[in-house]
Amino acid sequence: MAEIRKVMVIGAGQMGSGIAQVAAEAGLQVVLNDIQDEFIQRGLAVIRKNLQRAVDKGRMGQEEMAAVLGRIETSCQLDAGSDADIAIEAATENMDIKLGIFRKLDELMKGDAILASNTSSLPITEIAAVTRRPEQVIGMHFMNPVPVMKLVEVIRGLATSDAVYTAVHELAEKMGKTAVEVNDFPGFVSNRVLLPMINEAIYCVYEGVATPEAIDEVMKLGMNHPMGPLTLADFIGLDTCLAIMEVLYEGFRDSKYRPCPLLRKYVKAGWLGKKSGRGFYVYN
Ligand code: CAA
Repeated sequence: MAEIRKVMVIGAGQMGSGIAQVAAEAGLQVVLNDIQDEFIQRGLAVIRKNLQRAVDKGRMGQEEMAAVLGRIETSCQLDAGSDADIAIEAATENMDIKLGIFRKLDELMKGDAILASNTSSLPITEIAAVTRRPEQVIGMHFMNPVPVMKLVEVIRGLATSDAVYTAVHELAEKMGKTAVEVNDFPGFVSNRVLLPMINEAIYCVYEGVATPEAIDEVMKLGMNHPMGPLTLADFIGLDTCLAIMEVLYEGFRDSKYRPCPLLRKYVKAGWLGKKSGRGFYVYN
């Protein structure tokens, strides 16, 4: 397969902007796309802030920062990146939205382009099935915060070719990440293991076993986790946590994945964690 030089990133939110940043830092040309310019500008502001911190800390020169930013082109039109070698979709975690994007990408992108999704738990095989190139569809699951976390879970759909897997594995490594190969099952590995732990921590709050602070303290000091599970849930977004639990519950039809009623209640209340100002904790 030809070397990947140009990347289109769909979605300029928390994940998409991070992916665009690390791709541009790795020397790749990037087209950052979202449905509204306002969202793109917000993503770019985060990228600028992250790069400026690297400059301030002496890890990057001012000229290099300008060069990195210069490699990021933006557009609200999906066809702006039609000549890219890969599209990495990081839009909302909603199957219908993703299927719509992949149908369009399949029409617009050049024939040998790879179509990747940063989905945290939706089935790659089902996404691939709406395209005419299922062997070129793959999961590329980055962790949050993307610039800091080392892992990319690379998920093979049922039809993903070995050549596409290898190209994406190499791309992840070029972006400074460690790629780990995983097959397509609900939640893959990362969220199949992480989310039931978070859900269980929420059950502990629900059942009055301990306060959120105490639960987080136990996991931080007792298990050496950098963040307690409830802080992490707020950081991921409680709506995303619920969506992943629903995928596990639906996908395996096993009651061990039942989302905690308290998690549902918080999401219904609009308490989505850090991004909404309130979750298990209050943010200013
Ligand atoms: N963007 C960019 N850089 C960031 C950042 C962000 N959002 N947050 C922190 N950093 C950088 C800081 O600038 C700092 O860099 P320097 O060393 O250059 O100063 C470095 O990371 C460490 O940050 P802090 O000292 O502020 O705080 P910390 O040591 O507590 O680290 C953390 C912050 C890396 C987020 C750490 O708390 C951690 O690892 N938390 C767990 C994160 C995690 O589990 N992520 C996976 C979430 S699950 C997921 O993503 C999958 C999914 O599908 C839901």
